[in-house]
This record gives sequence, structure tokens and C-alpha cells, in this order.
Amino acid sequence: MGFPEGFLWGGATAANQYEGGYLDGGKGLSTLDAITDGSHTVPRKISFKTADGEIKYVTRDQELGKGATGYVDPNQYYPSHVATDFYHHWKEDIALFAEMGFKTFRLSIAWSRLFPRGDEKEPNEEGVKFYEDVFKELRKYDIEPLVTLNHFDMPMYLADEMDGWLDRRVVDYFVNFARVCFTRYKGLVTLWKTFNEINFMRAWNTLGTKAYDDQTRYQALHHVFVASAKTVLLGHVIDPHNLVGMMIAYGTSYPEDCNPDNYMKNIEEMHVKQFFCDVQCRGYYPNYKLKEFERNGVVIEKEEFDDDILLDGTVDFIGFSYYSSGISTIRTDAETTDGNQKRNIKNPHLKANDWGWQIDPVGLRIALNELYDRYELPLFVVENGLGAIDTVEEDGSINDDYRIDYLAAHIAEMKKAVEIDGVELMGYTPWGCIDLVSAGTGEMRKRYGFIYVDMDDEGKGTLKRSKKKSFDWYKKVIASNGEDLSK
Ligand code: BG6
Repeated sequence: MGFPEGFLWGGATAANQYEGGYLDGGKGLSTLDAITDGSHTVPRKISFKTADGEIKYVTRDQELGKGATGYVDPNQYYPSHVATDFYHHWKEDIALFAEMGFKTFRLSIAWSRLFPRGDEKEPNEEGVKFYEDVFKELRKYDIEPLVTLNHFDMPMYLADEMDGWLDRRVVDYFVNFARVCFTRYKGLVTLWKTFNEINFMRAWNTLGTKAYDDQTRYQALHHVFVASAKTVLLGHVIDPHNLVGMMIAYGTSYPEDCNPDNYMKNIEEMHVKQFFCDVQCRGYYPNYKLKEFERNGVVIEKEEFDDDILLDGTVDFIGFSYYSSGISTIRTDAETTDGNQKRNIKNPHLKANDWGWQIDPVGLRIALNELYDRYELPLFVVENGLGAIDTVEEDGSINDDYRIDYLAAHIAEMKKAVEIDGVELMGYTPWGCIDLVSAGTGEMRKRYGFIYVDMDDEGKGTLKRSKKKSFDWYKKVIASNGEDLSK
């Protein structure tokens, strides 16, 4: 009973929030390198040049306009440039993960480290070697790398010159990037995910497009889907041991009450995320989406074999992030609170963290059930965790009991999903296992880690690593395969 033997306990990170070294070792600029810092109240911005050469800043929900190009302003602080500097601390960090007993470690590959412009045929060898060294180091400790091929960024050149994923050529560039990863890391990596939180790919940094209207976004996303399916197929050919999954932000959602209209509204809101799983797990566009396209005049341009590729290249597993749940209502005056990349309606039954994200462990069990019932594919909780402000005491200790409570409650629900509901679950990698930059706000003070990194919101700090109280707690959880959640 309990979690199966071989359950993959670990932690998760992403290059643009953790790696730093933004120009080291021949890396090219990525779109994320032009995203400023921000805070809970001040949104992060994109810095760019207009077609007329004017330097401008817009928030990530604002369009850049035709002919715009990303611009790194020398007078501006950009959190991705150093982040928490995995690039220069990887040995030390991996040793700490090993000390916690990690079975897996999730990281993403910076596309622009392997392909600085994105359209090259051959990769930047220094970049290839960096990740090879990292994977070998992980293997030394029997830690299975869990690799996200693309986490929220792309080579800036592809966004500047080709309008990112709107251009069909980008499919081939991405598949070539994936080919290099599969061949060069064969034998070192077998667990892959194509696109992080594919349902949140909608801005310049993720899609590379300069307009965000439905026609543009869905055409670009079609190319992402095709690239993902081709990547799955290629991964299997290059190494039959490869498992290639998808990744979605999946917070479940409840109708506000038993009003049938609220229930229907909830179905519609669930379709917004299910669409991404439906295409990648079932292999075709669902009818509710085709009807929506028809109503809104969205016409997807497809190449001859796209539908076959989508059908053949369905994923091996579903990775998902879970932080909180949502509510659907037809009311327009409902009180809202912040959530992951969108505002949520307040749930009177739940408490929230300092950023307004509501805490709902049972929602994780519900999410696991919903996904498993719908697709019957193995699941992987590849992100979960509590963003919180940590205090370093005079003696250097960091007593993050709130984080332990959050994680323990979620693990307990996850266990019920496995033990009682029979959900097939591959593993659990809490987000930001070592402190890193917040994707939403660009802050450092919103910390998730078991390991503290001395770095502040302005990018000042020694980058020194130290263990929080949760470090030893998680070590015990892993050693007991999730049986001992006590403090
Ligand atoms: C997910 C992303 O949306 O949530 C991560 O995949 C992100 O990149 C995480 O960091 C937590 O969000 P935030 O805004 O607290 O960093």
C-alpha cells in the first residue's frame, strides 16, 4: 500500500528562473532575458524596440506590435540573467539534492544555450556539454533527470525574425533541438516533457508572437502541438526507453454552487485547460474547440499530414502543476484573489498564501482523479508548493513550518489518490526545491525551496546555499516513501 516502489520523489526547476549564466558558454539571448523584475503589485514587463527603434516596456498581456524586437536595456535589472546561478553551482546543488535522497530532478534546457539563434543546424557544443555534465553528475547519485525541453522561453532571434511559433519553420527548428537532446543525452535521460504549462503559452516570451489575438495564438499553438507530437515520435525512435510527456497547469475548478448555470460555466472553464490535454493525449482537436473556432472565425492552417502526426504522436504521460483550485460562476460581482497566472474567485472554505493563491490539498486529489478518469495515462505531479517569505534567524536557521504543513497536506491527498482511487502516479517534484526567481512576479522573496539561496529582489546577495527546516523533513518523507509526514 501507499506509494509504489520506485516512486520518483524529487524537485523541480526551470532554466530561466534558476540557471543564470545568460550569456555564458556561447548561450544566445532568450525571450525571457528581456523580462524585467516586478512584484506582487507591479507587473513584470517586456523591454523591446518598436519597428521605429523606440525603446518601450509593456506588460506580458500587451502586444508588442509588428516589427518589434526584444531589447535588453543595460540600465534595467533582469532576474533571469543570474537567477540563482545553477550554471556555476550545479555540483554543489546536486550534492544537496542527493543528500535529501532525490530520486529525480526536474530541470529545463535553455533552447538558446544549445541553439543561440534557434535556426542553426548544429548545436553550440559548450551548451551541449553543460547539460551532459549535469546529467552525469545526477546519474552519479542515481538521480533520474526529468527534462522539460521548453519552459516558457525561446531563442530571441526566432521571436524577432520569425514571429516565433507563428512561423511553421519553428516546428523544424524545435524538432532539431529535440533531436540533438535525444541523441546527445541518450543513456543519460529517458524522462522528457515537451512544453511547460502549454495552456499558459500566450505571451511574447512563450510563443514569440507580437500579437495575441485568437487567430494568431491558436495558429502558433497548432505549430506547438505539431512540434510536440513530432518530438514524441522522434523520442521513441531514437531510444525506445524514452518516455515523453506533456505538461499542463491543472488546478481543478468547482461550480460556485448547485445552480445548473454555474455547473455549465464550470464545464466551459474546464474545457479551456482540457483542450490542451485532449489534443496531446487523444490526438485530435475536440468538438467544443472546433465549434468555438467556428463561432470566432478562427481558421487553423494545417499541412497535409498534421492530423496524422497529432494522432500518432500522443504523449506517454501527463505532467502537471498544481498550486490551487478555482471556482466558476455566472456572477460578475464575485470577489477575486490572485492565482497562478490568472485571478481566481475567492473560496470561503480555503486559506491563501501571501500572494493570494488559495490552498486546497483535496483539490490535488480531485485533479488527479479527473485527469486519470479522462485519459487513463500515468500522471506526474511535476510542480506543487508554497511560495512564502522566509526569515533567516540570527543563528542562521530557517523555520519554514508553513511549507512543511502545505506539502504534508498535499502529499497526504496524493497518497489517497494512489491508495484509494487507484490513480497511476509516477512521481512528485515540488516546485523550486531550491529558491529561484518567481515566474509570475520576478521576485526572490516568493520562495519555494528546501534550500535557501541568499539573493534578494534586486539581484543582490552572496548566492550562498543553506538548508531550511523543510530540508530534513523532506529527506525523511523520501526515505519513508511518503509514509512519515510528521515534523
Ligand atoms: C508555474 C511555472 O506556473 O508556477 C513555474 O511552471 C512557476 O515556472 C510556478 O515558477 C510558480 O509560480 P510563481 O509565479 O510563484 O513563480
